[in-house]
Amino acid sequence: MRWLKLWRDFKKRDRRSFRSLTLVHPSFGELVIRPMEERDLNRVLAIEEENFGDDAWTRSSFEYEVKENLNARYYVLQLPSRGVVGYVGGWLILDELHVTNLSIAKPFQGRGLGELLLETYISLMLSERPELANAVLEVRTSNERAIKLYKKLGFEVVSIRKRYYSSGEDAYLMLLNLRTWKPSNPLILEAMRELVSEAEDSESG
Ligand SMILES: CC(C)(COP(=O)(O)OP(=O)(O)OC[C@H]1O[C@@H](n2cnc3c(N)ncnc32)[C@H](O)[C@@H]1OP(=O)(O)O)[C@@H](O)C(=O)NCCC(=O)NCCS
Repeated sequence: MRWLKLWRDFKKRDRRSFRSLTLVHPSFGELVIRPMEERDLNRVLAIEEENFGDDAWTRSSFEYEVKENLNARYYVLQLPSRGVVGYVGGWLILDELHVTNLSIAKPFQGRGLGELLLETYISLMLSERPELANAVLEVRTSNERAIKLYKKLGFEVVSIRKRYYSSGEDAYLMLLNLRTWKPSNPLILEAMRELVSEAEDSESG
């Protein structure tokens, strides 16, 4: 990918806390990937409804994830002049990351942002919980675009969940082995190494 520069903007508290990243992109400028907050929900819901229609998550689902679920980690992707244009989220359960949402606003799709957001998200989760063994997700068997993205990142189809969606459509269960996974973008890799060592320093200090 064509990133000019990346620098750290970590909200440093402890290993359990959320962290944020700021990246500079040649065409979008400064991109921020930061924890989703309640104030983001109007925009998140608009993107969710545009992308998923009748299957969109409800406000109360997102509210629960953002405000109550201690296992949940939800992030937004924000552009300087456009605000929030995408989001990703999931649950940390023991040594597994279950990715529940990935969504990019329609006008911004196909420009590398979904891949960047998911790679960064998985990297952030690994920096918070290095013992993670797998990431898993469900995807509609008809969602070729998303399946191609997940395969590009290293996910493999491990099974089919029959009639998983309310429409009756099947889902693929896809799995990524995190013991051997590394982000393909070297700048994300570098930032994550620093994140992990910073977390270790703050733990030992
Ligand atoms: C699926 C989604 C998250 C991908 O994000 P994106 O920003 O559009 O995708 P990117 O530009 O980052 O593309 C990354 C990879 O995805 C795949 N991809 C993206 N657009 C594609 C398309 N139109 N056709 C086929 N593959 C495509 C490719 O593998 C691509 O890599 P490449 O450009 O090297 O070929 C986004 O399109 C989206 O939000 N779709 C609607 C919601 C959704 O389906 N979410 C996933 C639910 S499981």
